[in-house]
Amino acid sequence: MKGVILAGGTGTRMLPATKVVNKHLLNVWDRPMIYYPIQTLVKAGIKEILIVTGGNSPGDFLKLLGNGKEFGLKEIHYTYQEGSGGIAEALGLAEDFADDGPVAVILGDNIFENNIRSAVEDFKKQIMGAKFFLKKVTDPERFGVAEIKGKNIIKIIEKPKNPKSNYAVTGLYMYDHQVFDVVKTLKPSKRDELEITDVNNFYIKQQTATFETVKGFWSDAGTFESLLRSSNLVAKKLVS
Ligand code: DAU
Repeated sequence: MKGVILAGGTGTRMLPATKVVNKHLLNVWDRPMIYYPIQTLVKAGIKEILIVTGGNSPGDFLKLLGNGKEFGLKEIHYTYQEGSGGIAEALGLAEDFADDGPVAVILGDNIFENNIRSAVEDFKKQIMGAKFFLKKVTDPERFGVAEIKGKNIIKIIEKPKNPKSNYAVTGLYMYDHQVFDVVKTLKPSKRDELEITDVNNFYIKQQTATFETVKGFWSDAGTFESLLRSSNLVAKKLVS
């Protein structure tokens, strides 16, 4: 399976730190943020990766990551998202790279402690649909939140004021080739973005979505608080 890392957008939530430096090149403890999603995909056995960059200094990604040899990658590809039209818009740029196959997608500011290899293997057997990864959190209103009934997700709500559960939908998603057609049907949300949550709700309605809960530490690093928390956790060797 091919991997896609979404590191577009303009990082406005972290100004002035992102005025010159791209958010995904800020350090999380001892290395740039973008290293973590790359390592998550590589440890899962993914050898071909596309990075969707955006914002400031996209050329710095090439300087930092080169041809991906250092990570044991067969190929690393780059593309560029103009502006910040949303996570789903950034994903849409990966259509040619995916070449009608399934993709594992990870947000460039998401840090996972555990190996996701078995989830990748499970998804390969799933034939069609999508797979999501949930984590219990104390601040669900910051995330896409899963409404769960029995063993099923009924709906995901993006940043709800009154969350129906404590289960955040993390920034790791696996999709079949339908995803690029779904992206083309999306309309911008109130915050003027193509929302990944709308993509995910398509699969839930189609009843082809599976999910599992994430074991080990997970955090985004896209706010000053979560960046600090992630750095501290990595420093404590929870993530190696
Ligand atoms: O971290 C998990 C959460 O990520 C999910 O629970 C939410 O459902 C999902 O919408 C997302 O929420 P955020 O508000 O945290 O997303 P943010 O705008 O911070 O973007 C996260 C990453 O996605 C960012 O580091 C790069 C990528 N991105 C984002 C936008 C808006 C893009 O590649 N292009 C974009 O236009």
